[in-house]
Amino acid sequence: MAPTSSSTSRPASACRWWWPTWWRAISSRASGVDPLTDAAQLAANWAAVRRRVDEACQAAGRDPAEVTILPVSKTFGADTVRAALGLGLHRFGENKVQEVRDKAAALAGEAIEWVVIGHLQTNKAKDVARLAHEVQSLDRLDLAEALHHRLQLEGRSLDVLVQVKTASEESKTGLPPGELPAFLVALRAYPTLHVRGLMTLATLSEDAGEVRACFRRLRELRDRSAAEGHDLPRLSMGMSGDFPLAIAEGATEIRIGTAIFGGRH
Ligand SMILES: Cc1ncc(COP(=O)(O)O)c(C=O)c1O
Repeated sequence: MAPTSSSTSRPASACRWWWPTWWRAISSRASGVDPLTDAAQLAANWAAVRRRVDEACQAAGRDPAEVTILPVSKTFGADTVRAALGLGLHRFGENKVQEVRDKAAALAGEAIEWVVIGHLQTNKAKDVARLAHEVQSLDRLDLAEALHHRLQLEGRSLDVLVQVKTASEESKTGLPPGELPAFLVALRAYPTLHVRGLMTLATLSEDAGEVRACFRRLRELRDRSAAEGHDLPRLSMGMSGDFPLAIAEGATEIRIGTAIFGGRH
């Protein structure tokens, strides 16, 4: 008889001593996941991304140490994040607060920094203030207000990036570029939010010139803001399909999901 799902959902540490070898072999085949292969694949993907980042930096005349890679683990489970911890990664980008909650619970005790990169509803501020290390998708004052309120209750502060809409698609979220100067001034009212830089998603396009223009726009906005007295050293821009262009335009951080973890389901 097949074991019940409750027996398979025990924590590995509780199971290991009594699971017979034959059952471990069958169950890993049944789940379609071979942990050894996945870890090896993840290591190979990570090495390939690192190599491509180095090449992009070399082509742009930049030092690879200036560019951080944020692995985006959205839709991948706690087991995948655990495998990535084995590679020395400890900072992960997530779009949904519910996923942060689930993975943070499953990986309690691990030294992980959760970075929120997806559009945020104000009603998620409580969990974000409790669990997130950083938010890169700050794009509205009502969200800043809600986060500040919850952070005060938690006695915490949070690094934030302002997400700016540089892309042409209606579907893309972010602050309209023209509103950035007033927004940055208004954020000074929320001392729990430490504004470190800007974030953007480029237009999804085959036209490299159009994609690169989005990244250039963000850099120029940052430079203009700096001239107005805002210290914004970080530029989070570039994903699996376009990060070399972002690096060429000055990205200090690229957010990489697919190229590290594979296709999302
Ligand atoms: C805001 C944001 N940044 C980065 C990524 C990673 O994208 P990719 O899988 O193309 O690397 C995603 C994925 O959906 C995302 O939503």
